[in-house]
Amino acid sequence: MDRILIRGGKALKGNIQIGGAKNAALPLMAASLLTGETLSLSNLPHLADISTMAKLLAELGVDISMDGDASNGGNDGRVFAMTAGNLDNTTAPYDLVRKMRASVLVLGPMLARAGRARVSLPGGCAIGTRPVDLHLQALQQLGADIELSEGYIEARAPTGLTGAKVTFPMVTVGGTENLLMAASLAKGETVLANAAREPEVADLAHCLVAMGAEIDGIGTGTLTIQGKDALHGAEYAVVPDRIETGTYAVAAAITGGDLTISGARADLSEAVNKVLTSAGVDIAPTNDGIRVTRADGGLRGVDIMTEPYPGFPTDMQAQVMALMAVADGASMMTETIFENRFMHVPELCRMGADINVHGASAIVRGVKKLSGAQVMATDLRASVSLVLAGLAAEGETVINRVYHLDRGYERLVDKLSACGADIRRESE
Ligand code: EPZ
Repeated sequence: MDRILIRGGKALKGNIQIGGAKNAALPLMAASLLTGETLSLSNLPHLADISTMAKLLAELGVDISMDGDASNGGNDGRVFAMTAGNLDNTTAPYDLVRKMRASVLVLGPMLARAGRARVSLPGGCAIGTRPVDLHLQALQQLGADIELSEGYIEARAPTGLTGAKVTFPMVTVGGTENLLMAASLAKGETVLANAAREPEVADLAHCLVAMGAEIDGIGTGTLTIQGKDALHGAEYAVVPDRIETGTYAVAAAITGGDLTISGARADLSEAVNKVLTSAGVDIAPTNDGIRVTRADGGLRGVDIMTEPYPGFPTDMQAQVMALMAVADGASMMTETIFENRFMHVPELCRMGADINVHGASAIVRGVKKLSGAQVMATDLRASVSLVLAGLAAEGETVINRVYHLDRGYERLVDKLSACGADIRRESE
């Protein structure tokens, strides 16, 4: 298994290019199941999760042709032309779903188009139990017959789905995405209330509109969908990754550096930018992104609570905690989305951070310096927070279980070392 070695203390300077958002690309790929025509997606990131979704779709009978091989790097393999001619196989097997929970996003489109779907239940994961009950309840409201059997979701709608008013009891990104896709092929009108407003949900909705769907309220908490008999092919470019953007903004801030982040959409990161600005980080717009520098006064602790969009994203909590660990003063960070998303805390403490967790809140008392250590983490954002801490720490940090990072950060080591970080990857 590979590991990453970092010698901290280098201020990062230079330019980092942001890729397409993983969490937008995955539902967009699943949307290819909605039509027999070709959906062509561009600006896809080179990530392990994208390959896993491609494998799953291929298993379901989607023909995928790529513009070159992603392993060549560069711009090869960023455009997928996906054609779901006939959905002969409607089973998403345990082996693939287990690897990536977002596999459950094939449920809504497959059920709506083929009238049946068998999808392995994803099970718990490192950051929480993460059930899919809300996806299932909402699909039942559209007339799906759903049973759980032998670890699988068995869903049927032999005469198709029928539009309904669905009010989500809590905001769910994946649930909203599954329902948006299903409702696009349902009979009549569906209203999704308390829908997720994340930019990745809006990206999916815009792509569905390009495929012939009729959706009102995109970007709001109420989505109204007029179902169509069929959708058609389209070309669509994936939105830039706001979490990758925020992660590199923290890299600039934590090292006292100066990074230009190209391709970033500042308008999608307002809550994060507000927190970073209050913490003493300067963020200025550029022609095609943002420039992030640390203001002269050093870093200050800021209180943060994760919330559904447009609130502060849970996917940035671990990275900002690494920053708060070296800020002046204290910060209270409250996680309201997932019940177990503080796995990075004990590892950050091993690097000298002063953090105490009380239920859903962590009190971070800033220290002058972190020190390098051997660390590992059990999910993507926790792992990258340790990379960020390592960039600021004295001495060497070794990060194990690098495969988590490969799921969500394209060429992380190359991008950071091109900006002056002393970082390398090696095989054990
Ligand atoms: C998406 O997960 C993202 N994943 C996550 O990204 C992100 O952390 C999360 O949204 C919140 O923003 C993708 O987009 C692929 P949810 P998702 O349904 O859709 C509970 C990353 O690091 N819930 O909005 O699974 C759930 O347990 C990650 O890139 C139910 O109880 O999140 C959680 O507590 C990891 N029942 C909360 O709702 C359900 O049926 C929000 O989950 C569905 C969700």
